[in-house]
Amino acid sequence: MPPARGLFISLEGIDGSGKSTQARRLAEALRASGRDTVLTREPGGASGAEEIRRLLVEGDPDRWSPETEILLFTAARRDHLERTIRPALEAGRDVITDRFADSTRVYQGATRGDLRGLVDQIHSAAIGVEPDLTLILDMDPETALVRGLARDSGEDRFEDFGLPFQQKLRVGFQALAREYSDRCHLIDANADPDQVASNIAEIVRRRLP
Ligand code: TYD
Repeated sequence: MPPARGLFISLEGIDGSGKSTQARRLAEALRASGRDTVLTREPGGASGAEEIRRLLVEGDPDRWSPETEILLFTAARRDHLERTIRPALEAGRDVITDRFADSTRVYQGATRGDLRGLVDQIHSAAIGVEPDLTLILDMDPETALVRGLARDSGEDRFEDFGLPFQQKLRVGFQALAREYSDRCHLIDANADPDQVASNIAEIVRRRLP
């Protein structure tokens, strides 16, 4: 008999919301409980997708139109899904991804004009799957932006859109949590990181078989 399919979890939120730290802590917690867990990220998570990532996160904010971005993020996601996510889930491993399609719904679909319809069409044609569980880290954009830019990663194309953009993103993620209330949990990420990690671990624990 093939192994039971693993659990597919995404972490979402604005830039600097602490997703990457929390994704790593969740992966460590799942591994410590004996579960075989893959930690991955978007854009990226497979070698072709990582090449596309560089086109997206570096350079001028107006380098791409939102429509072109939707296509590039979706191309990267398709590669990530084919080569990393699907094989891992089918082998019975859990997958934790730092961002997935909800980032496109909000960053490209709800900030620079209403492109949500286009995002949904392209998603259903090319991707067609959702995580089992999505944890949306909600925090004050001003604090998050300072944190994000302080990292000086050279990958600041989206941070460079500025504070009003981050505020729109926050509202967009909050709306998504209501729209997909079965799958999405809004997590207060202003809290102490240990507290955030334990809140996340508790939500995930309830979803485990
Ligand atoms: P990420 O590496 O998660 O950056 P950070 O750690 O700063 O949050 O993502 C890179 C950027 O790409 C980030 O600013 C969000 C953006 N993004 C989109 O605009 N659309 C998408 O579909 C994805 C996956 C990311």
